[in-house]
Amino acid sequence: MDSSRTFPKGFLWGSATSAHQVEGNTHNDWSEWEIESSKFKVQSEKLNFISGNACDHYNRFKEDFDIAKSLGHNVHRFSLEWSRIEPEEGKFDREAIEHYRQVLTALRERGLEPFVTIWHWTNPIWIRDIGGWENKKTIEYFMRFVERVSQEYKDLVKFWMPLNEPETYIGLSFVAGRFPPQKKSFMSANRVFKNLMQAHRQAYTAIKAVSPHAQVGASHYALYIDAQGNHWQNRVLAEFLHHIRNKRFWNALQGYRDFFGLQYYHHNRVAFTLRGKPHVRLDVRFPSAQETTDNGWEIYPQGIYHLLKEISSYKEPIYITENGIADATDTKREKFITDHLVQVHHAIQEGADVRGYFYWSLLDNFEWDNGFQARFGLVEVDFKTQERKIRPSAYAYKNIIEQNSL
Ligand code: FCB
Repeated sequence: MDSSRTFPKGFLWGSATSAHQVEGNTHNDWSEWEIESSKFKVQSEKLNFISGNACDHYNRFKEDFDIAKSLGHNVHRFSLEWSRIEPEEGKFDREAIEHYRQVLTALRERGLEPFVTIWHWTNPIWIRDIGGWENKKTIEYFMRFVERVSQEYKDLVKFWMPLNEPETYIGLSFVAGRFPPQKKSFMSANRVFKNLMQAHRQAYTAIKAVSPHAQVGASHYALYIDAQGNHWQNRVLAEFLHHIRNKRFWNALQGYRDFFGLQYYHHNRVAFTLRGKPHVRLDVRFPSAQETTDNGWEIYPQGIYHLLKEISSYKEPIYITENGIADATDTKREKFITDHLVQVHHAIQEGADVRGYFYWSLLDNFEWDNGFQARFGLVEVDFKTQERKIRPSAYAYKNIIEQNSL
């Protein structure tokens, strides 16, 4: 074993999922949008974009956690589905609350430390109907939910993450118009930004009031943005986007984080292009992109190193709460994981306080508006039979975990 590539003692290793993407049969703003969305012209094509049974993880979580345990994981990140726990305003569902208690217990019984995301993008229908996160009232309702779950599970949970990637949600739902409610409005985006930041800060305080020793983190999908070509305009643009898409969020939650949850996937290049009129292109699929994933994301392990170095200046513990690749044939995954961990290790050696790594995802799952095509799983899922098949890269990852070393 090369001891120069050893990770700190007690390093946490595992994977992550989110409720809507794996549980199956959720009823929330996303599930309704999937059915109503006019995005899909052909009915047969549309079926691939409806979460439906997903991985049926709601019923198979024990079997799935057995697999995670067999792969050497000692931590697991998942999310609570608000629409199950509070399907109607103020009416909490005992069965759903009990379900997540069983999920947490099953994790603990298998020696998997739970990291619990309270909100991973999906909203109950009644929240959608009052205007969702554009309405300030949603903060109040969210806080009631946060207080409830932090009380219910305080004996089982140490690590909480109130929100998953607020910046991605704002970008895709309120700027790009891709995710529900498909808006393209800077005014709405700004309102949602303020409300989500406020919700995180309040949730931080509320969870700490219930469990003073809890560790409450903020997740961020950090974009590593480079200027395409060496034009000064593009460099200025890259710097500006880095500020509004990354730093603005990092700074807004300073003082309300016990740890930083870094989520990193790909290289972004940015350029002003002239197609009729000046046009900004922030993209992961520039023609000059090096190697890409199945969904066209440019693989760039060095990006995680640079981001870790920058984030280290906040002097907070860091967990890589997501990093992964869509790779149906499993030909690139092992190298992807190893190459990223080499960069993580490099950053640790230079002082970054990284304490854990969560591969996205344990299972192939419902990848939002990419439907079921993008296969991120360490474990392959046959969505017709729900059969699970462990991919070879999962064993390579297991080997790293067992050695705690590359
Ligand atoms: C992240 C999301 C996660 C998954 C991965 C691929 O932005 O948090 O749900 O979709 O991307």
